[in-house]
Amino acid sequence: MRGAIFFSSKYGSTAQYAQWIAEATSLPVYDLDETDAALAKFDFLVLGSPVIYYKPMFHRWVKRNLDDILGRPTVFFSVSGAGAGPKLDGWLADSLPAAFVSHAAHVALRGRQDPEELSRYDRSMLIIGGLKNPDRKAAKEEIHGFDFMDKKSIRPIVERIRELQA
Ligand SMILES: Cc1cc2nc3c(=O)[nH]c(=O)nc-3n(C[C@H](O)[C@H](O)[C@H](O)COP(=O)(O)O)c2cc1C
Repeated sequence: MRGAIFFSSKYGSTAQYAQWIAEATSLPVYDLDETDAALAKFDFLVLGSPVIYYKPMFHRWVKRNLDDILGRPTVFFSVSGAGAGPKLDGWLADSLPAAFVSHAAHVALRGRQDPEELSRYDRSMLIIGGLKNPDRKAAKEEIHGFDFMDKKSIRPIVERIRELQA
């Protein structure tokens, strides 16, 4: 089975995870901003996106490509500040098609947010969000940033890909 990794990334952490998965599996890797590679060329898909303002950054792309995605086994990795759990699941369910959510095998990875790297707009929005967030731990991360990048956390994705390749 031939597969490929497609990802979007705003500040690079999802790109880093996609690269690690590509190195571990030898799958080709495509940045959605830079490719017109056709999903239909592949037998299975690995799709990665950061969560930005409570939505996976590539949610519109998923809607546009839904038929091709539903036609092949799909692993979806999200990259976010929040860890796996009902909060993240709720954001994904609110912005992705229900058919995608039930079709794709989801793995939640945690990313990185460096206040120094952010655009002025994003930095201001995250400070405002942090000041309003009743969850004090999450609020601190929104305002001061975090680094949860963990190469080992790709393991379930790599294992699933190996099953699909076998
Ligand atoms: C503008 C902005 C909005 C974000 N919104 C969320 C969010 O709603 N929920 C969350 O858990 N993490 C949120 N994050 C954290 C990102 O998901 C995290 O920093 C991720 O690693 C970014 O991926 P990237 O480096 O590939 O762009 C946000 C980060 C930024 C910069």
